[in-house]
Amino acid sequence: MNDKNIESTLCEERLFSPPAEFSAKARIPDRAAFDSLVQAADENFEGFWSDQAKAELTWHKPFETVLDDTNPPYYRWFTEGELNVSFNCLDRHLKGKADKAAIIFEGERGEVTTLTYRQLHQRVCRFANVLKEQGIVPGDRVVIYLPMVPEAVIAMQACARIGAIHSVVFGGFSAESLKGRIEDAEAKLLITADGGYRGGRIIQLKAAADRALQGGCVSIQRVIVLQHTGHEIAMTGGRDLWWHQIEAKADSHCEPVWVNAEHPLFLLYTSGSTGKPKGIQHASAGYLLGTATTMKWVFDIRDEDIFWCTADVGWVTGHSYTTYGPLAVGATMVMYEGVPTFPDPGRFWKLCQDHKVTIFYTAPTAIRALMKWGDDLPASYDLSQLRLLGTVGEPINPEAWMWYYRIIGNERCPIVDTWWQTETGVHMISPIPGAIPTKPGSCTLPLPGISAAVVDEKGESITTADRGGYLVITRPWPAMLRTIWGDDQRYYETYWRKFDGKYYVAGDSARRDEDGYFWIMGRADDVLNVSGHRLGTMEIESALVAYPKVAEAAVVGRPDAIKGESILAYVILKGDRPAKNGDGGAPLAEELRAWVAEQIGPIAKPDEIRFVDGLPKTRSGKIMRRLLRTIAQGETITQDTSTLESEAILAQLQGKA
Ligand code: WTA
Repeated sequence: MNDKNIESTLCEERLFSPPAEFSAKARIPDRAAFDSLVQAADENFEGFWSDQAKAELTWHKPFETVLDDTNPPYYRWFTEGELNVSFNCLDRHLKGKADKAAIIFEGERGEVTTLTYRQLHQRVCRFANVLKEQGIVPGDRVVIYLPMVPEAVIAMQACARIGAIHSVVFGGFSAESLKGRIEDAEAKLLITADGGYRGGRIIQLKAAADRALQGGCVSIQRVIVLQHTGHEIAMTGGRDLWWHQIEAKADSHCEPVWVNAEHPLFLLYTSGSTGKPKGIQHASAGYLLGTATTMKWVFDIRDEDIFWCTADVGWVTGHSYTTYGPLAVGATMVMYEGVPTFPDPGRFWKLCQDHKVTIFYTAPTAIRALMKWGDDLPASYDLSQLRLLGTVGEPINPEAWMWYYRIIGNERCPIVDTWWQTETGVHMISPIPGAIPTKPGSCTLPLPGISAAVVDEKGESITTADRGGYLVITRPWPAMLRTIWGDDQRYYETYWRKFDGKYYVAGDSARRDEDGYFWIMGRADDVLNVSGHRLGTMEIESALVAYPKVAEAAVVGRPDAIKGESILAYVILKGDRPAKNGDGGAPLAEELRAWVAEQIGPIAKPDEIRFVDGLPKTRSGKIMRRLLRTIAQGETITQDTSTLESEAILAQLQGKA
């Protein structure tokens, strides 16, 4: 986040009380009710979570231990307990809710399909039997590379039903990225589709999957292919199977496999500041509990709600608030495959209108992108059913917050600005809509049972509003990640070592105001947040230097009005630098951008590439990223630039030469 945003949030003094009409019916209707939950968790932490786990989840075998903290930070929750996540999301709703819509799906071209709880249950059972027939046993890894269609949820739930561990790879990631994830997880099975729709075009998923499997991914035994776009694709005999053919033959009865509370539910790869993406590993019971409690506390979910979270299932938001949370609490959700601007920028508002969405959850980047089309567009749709709005993924600037509040919510809907991460599993810091007054740009207060703080370099708590610091979580929580797949040491190093295992270090910087409200200032490490997507600078740099013509690269983020951050790459070529960045460099810059898209995915493409003859480095040879960021943002340089070989290089870095 840039300094201007920090300044604008620093002087943000507007306060919006929960609308009385909302609070009157809310699950947590006022500050006193919120405080008593927080207090209950403070006074008897384990008792609090034990009560929640008993109330929200259906157990096959009860737990005795609530929190096992004998080997920190490898915490375990509800250890003796046994349950099945898919049973909790589906079977237990069949009594009473069998004919209630679970998923209302709309495709990009407008086709609508509804799946009731009974239908979804049947399809999940069938597909779980398919997985078993393909030799999948509990603990096996299954990689899912699908578009945003109900089958993605079916595949995930089917894995959970038989104790297989899914790892969903976002359809926008490249073949190379898919390959890296399959190999790290040593997955036995890949589930993909012929293609997906995006902005009127077809995304070639099967073709990318074929490239990923070429000469690698030796663990993969079978590929199940969903027919979605219907265009012609190559099928490899003995390896590839059509989803519809094998599902049709499968039995619709499938007993859930009861697993231990700690049994891994899924891996989800995410970017960090170093090395390749890490497989964040989540456990079954604690994670599911977190999704259920936050659906109730933060989204105030009710039986009659129509809930729509716009995130793709390839991201954690799509896991917790599409595949698991809404189903855990027996809610109805909307699922949409396409982009917000297809065929026109009114699409999201039309979807809200047509499906009578009551709770709408999206990313600030989408709000900013839609905001620029003006107020008349949303005003031409009937948004009167909306009662609650949410945001996630990046800091929201007060201007976008106010637009969302006034134009979309008609000053009637509270906004929940939810702070959390792939690693935290579920919401951590967020307003409770009926109880906590909101301030535009602040995610307000930690949820009951969650202990967060802002600390300085020594780990001392910072309580004054004028200073920022590291955002840390000071106590374990049920939905927390358990480890990094196959790398316990890296888990400790990445999240706990900084304060000797005492705190979970989120990687964000934040400050707290006089009311104790949290204001997220952005990442404190070398992670970029582009349109709410997490990308590591090092990941992009290694992709760039893997290109034969590139000698060295440094990547930094730069504030962007729509995307939050854009990507600027400084590149040193092996041969001569193009005479002028603009002319001679343009075709090469395009080549490099395409290369990065191939290596990681189109979301990682640098917005600008500047060819330079040198990079500023410390005496020990480390790239001075802070200086590069200052230069990239066009700000006055206060740092020492003496390590730069010449003034000419400074001009190149500034894009002036
Ligand atoms: C950022 C997404 C400000 C933050 C759920 C975090 C936010 C990273 C917010 C996690 C928010 C997420 N306000 N920043 N409400 N929510 N972030 O793992 O930097 O894709 O560390 O999980 O997004 O991204 P991830």
